[in-house]
Amino acid sequence: MKIPELKIGNLKAKLPIIQGGMAVRISTARLAAQVANEGAIGVIAGTGLNPQELTDEIKLARSLTDGIIGVNVLYAVKDFALLVKTAISSSIDLVISGAGFSREIFTWGRETDTAILPVVSSARLAILAERLGAKAVIVEGTEAGGHLGTDRRLVDILPEVVKKVEIPVIGAGGIIDGFDIAKILNLGASGVQMGTRFAASVESNASDAMKKSYITATKDDVISVPSPVGLPGRAIRNRFTDKINGDKVKITKCNNCLKACSHRYCIMDALLEASSFGSGAEEKALFFAGSCVDRIKEILPVKEIINNLKKELKMA
Ligand SMILES: Cc1cc2nc3c(=O)[nH]c(=O)nc-3n(C[C@H](O)[C@H](O)[C@H](O)COP(=O)(O)O)c2cc1C
Repeated sequence: MKIPELKIGNLKAKLPIIQGGMAVRISTARLAAQVANEGAIGVIAGTGLNPQELTDEIKLARSLTDGIIGVNVLYAVKDFALLVKTAISSSIDLVISGAGFSREIFTWGRETDTAILPVVSSARLAILAERLGAKAVIVEGTEAGGHLGTDRRLVDILPEVVKKVEIPVIGAGGIIDGFDIAKILNLGASGVQMGTRFAASVESNASDAMKKSYITATKDDVISVPSPVGLPGRAIRNRFTDKINGDKVKITKCNNCLKACSHRYCIMDALLEASSFGSGAEEKALFFAGSCVDRIKEILPVKEIINNLKKELKMA
């Protein structure tokens, strides 16, 4: 297929691909900028950073690329408004919000002409987002890594959304290669968002242990875990997930970071432990991953990942 561009408001990316924001610190400037340099849209995960750190990451990304850079912030965190406003005041190109739905974010986007892209899992929320001023919606199916808003498959939800809104629809969840991208575009999507494939790249800050588990995981290793956010999450089974699927895990220091927290365990610590900024220790780290992680066999540089995607997409 001829590779289409992705137009979102005034933004135009050469490739119809968004690299999903991945907290905590898995997708920072290094990954996002490299993705943007290859013609896709790179996204810095803002969740778990303080405003100064987020400003610094955006500046660093801008120094590394002229491409399109976005920031992703989870609605579930107390600092949601602060982090989104920080990204907007650093002139970020677009903001993606997941794990909950904010109405206010569209006002902030409108005031500054910043594209707002909510993650939704139903046509009902997509219609609301369009009415509130979303420049595009990201439709995530149950195959996705990270927090999940649905147990329905992307291929079932996507056509329903495409039928109901005029704005670009981006499909996410379980997309690993260019043939997967073609399939989602053929269902009427304008682009895709991919997380796990980019988490398993040289430029991602996933710890060595997390990267190793990405390339060795089988289908059966991918499970649904409870998150203190109040949503299930998709992750690779390890000693930590065995612990949280049993009893509460003692929280030594609460950062009071979530709007509402079950205190079953500390999600921020568990995600940070999974990154190269943490210990990567299996009994402490939560390895978020999509349901198709078993198809990833190699940790590759972003350039190679995107070249492969382009080749496959052209063949599809
Ligand atoms: C390690 C990891 C961390 C993630 N963190 C976030 C996040 O902070 N915010 C968010 O909206 N989505 C997050 N996601 C979801 C991704 O942005 C993306 O939508 C999802 O990974 C797509 O599914 P895939 O992994 O099958 O490609 C995360 C996914 C992974 C794998």
